[in-house]
Amino acid sequence: MNFPKAETFPQSIMRERSMGPNPLKLCEELLALADIPVGSVVLDLGSGAGLTSALMARECGFIVYAADLWSDPSDNMRFLEGCGLTNRQVVPLKADATALPFAHGFFDAVVSVDSYNYFGRDPAYLGTHLLPFVKRGGELLFAIPGMVRDCHDDLPACLLASWTPEQLEFMHDIGWWRENIGQTDGVEILDMREMSCTREAWADWVACDNEYAAGDRAAVEAGALDYLNTIAVRLRRR
Ligand SMILES: C[S@@+](CC[C@H](N)C(=O)[O-])C[C@H]1O[C@@H](n2cnc3c(N)ncnc32)[C@H](O)[C@@H]1O
Repeated sequence: MNFPKAETFPQSIMRERSMGPNPLKLCEELLALADIPVGSVVLDLGSGAGLTSALMARECGFIVYAADLWSDPSDNMRFLEGCGLTNRQVVPLKADATALPFAHGFFDAVVSVDSYNYFGRDPAYLGTHLLPFVKRGGELLFAIPGMVRDCHDDLPACLLASWTPEQLEFMHDIGWWRENIGQTDGVEILDMREMSCTREAWADWVACDNEYAAGDRAAVEAGALDYLNTIAVRLRRR
């Protein structure tokens, strides 16, 4: 796959600000599944250090609300300004996905890269805490780190080389996510599929020079990517 939007960002910036498998490539592949118009107001949910927000604002022309719990919105704003963006294009804020500070029906779309599995594993989450903030007809796009097949009962050694069974509880297969999301009224599942760029995105991540990437390297080198995937989810609010 080609990544013309992701590749407008220097590799040094991607490596400095990624918090997991290359979010720029995941975001670009995810957006290609839908047709979100220029000028749409988009919630980047669990936006981390702002890479995906920068891509969506600068390369897609969306107005982006970059909502994240752990990162510092001031640091993200300086980064976004460095990308040539202004506060008319991106609004970084500290927010908890389970208590979003917006008006109901505010967003045209939601995009969430490598974050939804932190808060969305509770099947009540989507209907209670996220869907009300999306306009009727609006789309939600998630790229979720997952498993090819759930193997929590018999975890392979390669996964345990970097992660504990508790950490691996954050990862599930497509069937598990379909069951989780399918319990929510008022939303239509348009698409759920394995993403193509998983191996490439992980290769970019484990090449990063930070302790988290270094910690994940052992599993990847031991063959973890035979068991892991990334699940793209495309939903529409009815
Ligand atoms: C693995 S990082 C991914 C960040 C970014 N999307 C990226 O791909 O680089 C997971 C992100 O989820 C966010 N997160 C976890 N729980 C959250 C919550 N309850 N509300 C908002 N964000 C949350 C964290 O702040 C963190 O930035």
